[in-house]
Amino acid sequence: MNTQSTRVFSNIVLIGFMGVGKSSCGRLLAQELGFQFLDTDQRIRNSMNSTIPEIFAKYGEATFRAQERELVLQTIPTLTNTVISTGGGMGATAEYLDIMRQNSLLVHLCLPPKDIYERIKKNKNRPLLQTPDPLESICELLKKRLPIYHTADVEITTLNRSIPQIVFQIILQFQRYKPLTSANDSTSYPESH
Ligand code: S3P
Repeated sequence: MNTQSTRVFSNIVLIGFMGVGKSSCGRLLAQELGFQFLDTDQRIRNSMNSTIPEIFAKYGEATFRAQERELVLQTIPTLTNTVISTGGGMGATAEYLDIMRQNSLLVHLCLPPKDIYERIKKNKNRPLLQTPDPLESICELLKKRLPIYHTADVEITTLNRSIPQIVFQIILQFQRYKPLTSANDSTSYPESH
């Protein structure tokens, strides 16, 4: 009997830092694959009927993180054929990646800190970067988060690439992994990195 644990997935989870393009790429990726699309920030905004800054200000970050936790524990395990764009903190939680890895290909979208800063500097929707020195905040957060982001199955830079180009890269990787992990396929794929 094969005792190695195997992964069977039909979802794609996009993880990575704020501003790397997870939501924009996720939306087009879902469209191209004919998949459902779940944007975790959007789901939380809708369920609390508030913007992210309002949630942080009115209820505190812990309430927002509890909503993320519920999505990872209760909702994501039930999904199939879905592209999931996560908030930057959700994909930086190793425990969550272990859960999502069970039914999803994990794709890390990445950008250098300076480019993240250029993209987010005028945006007021990210409470963690409303600091006197946002570039420094980006670097500090990345230092903690990158080792976890790096455990994704696939890493793709979004630097100097259009959204369709990034989506194309993700689809290539998904097709490469997918046949090896399909529930209908007799070939099993050992869980590894
Ligand atoms: C956060 C990232 C944000 C949002 C919240 C917290 C983070 O999402 O979930 O502001 O901790 O990195 P994006 O990555 O979509 O900006």
